Amino acid sequence: MTFKTIDDLNVNGKVVLLRADLNVPQTDGMVTDTTRIDRLRPTIDKLKKEKAKIVILSHFGRPNGEKNTDYSLSFIIPVLEKIWETPVLFADDCIDDTAKMMIARMGESDVLLLENVRFHAGEEANDPAFTKQLAVLGDVFVNDAFSAAHRAHASTEGLAHHLPSAAGLMMEAELNALQNALEAPQKPVAALVGGSKISTKLSVLNNLVQKVDYLVLGGGMANTFLLAQGHNIGKSLCESDMLDEANRIAQTAKDNNCEIVLPIDCVVVEDLGAGVPYQTVTLDHFPDTMSAIDIGEQSIAHIEGILDQCKTVLWNGPMGVFEIKPFDRGTNAIAEKVAALTQRGRLVSVAGGGDTVSALENAKVIKDMTYVSTAGGAFLEWLEGKTLPGVAALMTAQSKAA
Ligand code: 3PG
Repeated sequence: MTFKTIDDLNVNGKVVLLRADLNVPQTDGMVTDTTRIDRLRPTIDKLKKEKAKIVILSHFGRPNGEKNTDYSLSFIIPVLEKIWETPVLFADDCIDDTAKMMIARMGESDVLLLENVRFHAGEEANDPAFTKQLAVLGDVFVNDAFSAAHRAHASTEGLAHHLPSAAGLMMEAELNALQNALEAPQKPVAALVGGSKISTKLSVLNNLVQKVDYLVLGGGMANTFLLAQGHNIGKSLCESDMLDEANRIAQTAKDNNCEIVLPIDCVVVEDLGAGVPYQTVTLDHFPDTMSAIDIGEQSIAHIEGILDQCKTVLWNGPMGVFEIKPFDRGTNAIAEKVAALTQRGRLVSVAGGGDTVSALENAKVIKDMTYVSTAGGAFLEWLEGKTLPGVAALMTAQSKAA
């Protein structure tokens, strides 16, 4: 996988259109997780050092192509200024004359954030006319929004066909980490996949069993595979209409020498909630009235043994209901093992997607993993083996020097 980086572009004194993903979680205008903003800092610093005029494009939420103040990006300015330690100007439309005037007045190393690109219907439609309106604003395009790269939108895909383009430092780090984990990994490779439903991750599972040596399943989706194998799983969450699909995935795994690793014991409860009584049971003693909500100690030991043999681990989804203690025990134990092996230089570990980051944060191991992706949907589509349009556009991006 080859793509251009900022070093391949002449950005000195140029107006750089920087696609960022400032679609950050917030409550009442307070950003609750600044990871995406923190990770953009190296690109901002580099472009400032190169005396570029940095014009940031981003979406926020899903305003459906209409201006809607509920989805304005203006609230985020103080957070950007604090984390990036630089003043950040704001233009309340991304293509109007005011935005153009503000860009014309920018000095070297200035930073300007343009209002939500999704206030224009042309953004999600990847409308060529809208893309041109964006393209005339800048000299070069830097895409640092891997987490939005699964969208073929004007500012994530279209722009790369109009301007000399490159990946930002965060995009570069994401792509290198993903490449090392799935496309050209050190073997053996284990994929740890959790979450409640196989129906939402069918393509992910189908792709992974053709690429990895071990597919370790946890969460509700493991129950569906256990049921398909004929085990009693009591009242556990499962998808009884997905048993054929589970068997098909198991067969594909077999054909590709991939071992599917399922729980051998489970933590079970009558009713899920904080402080409820629980017990650990093996599969042959599963009570009819109870539900599995975490993997048990024997399963943890079994998975740890597999991890000891692996050189690469890819992680998406928790092993149990980690949001309710002590049912985070299985996820935490596996996370600690992956973190320890990574820190000893024995394992390359890459995690991402949905609530994986929260689960690893809960286990306090984020810093000990080789790479934790900021992406949700984009990470999953990459796990499915799909080509991400925003990434593909960078591969074929114009090669002329800026
Ligand atoms: C994300 O948060 O996953 C990205 O910003 C993409 O957002 P979207 O699903 O609204 O396109």
